Amino acid sequence: MNSKLIVLNWKTNPISGVEATKLGVKIKDLIKNKKNVEVVMCPPAPFIPLVMPKRKNKGLAVGAQDAFFVGSGSYTGRASSEMFKSLGCEYVIVGHSEKRQDGDTDEVVAKKVESVIRSNMKAIICVGEEIRDKEGKYLNLIRHQVISAISLVKKSYLKDVIIAYEPLWAIGKDAYKADDPESFFHNAVFIKKAFATVSGSEMAVKLPVLYGGSVTADNALKFLVSGRADGLLIGRVSLLPEQVKDIIYMAEQLGNNK
Ligand code: PGA
Repeated sequence: MNSKLIVLNWKTNPISGVEATKLGVKIKDLIKNKKNVEVVMCPPAPFIPLVMPKRKNKGLAVGAQDAFFVGSGSYTGRASSEMFKSLGCEYVIVGHSEKRQDGDTDEVVAKKVESVIRSNMKAIICVGEEIRDKEGKYLNLIRHQVISAISLVKKSYLKDVIIAYEPLWAIGKDAYKADDPESFFHNAVFIKKAFATVSGSEMAVKLPVLYGGSVTADNALKFLVSGRADGLLIGRVSLLPEQVKDIIYMAEQLGNNK
């Protein structure tokens, strides 16, 4: 992948459609005339139609934060991959730790990934440990999360998979710090190796691995350069256009240099 991928996970924000529309307009303005960077805006499901660009906008895509794996039926409260595809979404985040805490097991994550890809979108699969132990046992968990999440996807479709490495201790307002770029780099290599056991090495080399967890305009460049991240998954800061602007600018410069 040549362009850096910047995923903006708005989570359950902002509170109204009016604010979501305004935020969407601001983000769209930041992308204008940008090359070599792909920004994916992931608003809450009800706001997706409000921010969806009228025409395909180069460098900007819209994604969902989760998707149910059965297309339609008697499943109160669920919105399926097919539905998000029909709205124009190109990506879906799957297996975010906040969804896993809500009860999404590895099995459910695998079904969701399969449904996203079957619906012709890309799956951004989140993996990451709750506790980083010094012995490196957490790597077993990451390997398992990667391999099980892609277990239902046909090999030729694994090109539609993106992995976001997000250690739980680095995510959200209770996070005490971001990971450091060197450790991210080692974990990203480990993730590619785990992926390769299913996909083969040729595809694993091309697998985009993003970093997520307390990303800000101050640490983004370190993850993209020293950590060699293929992109970033951004939570809280995705609601702050000034910081998003700086991060997109950095990502674009790096895309240019490739
Ligand atoms: P954060 O969230 O950037 O607010 O830490 C990241 C995420 O949960 O995806």
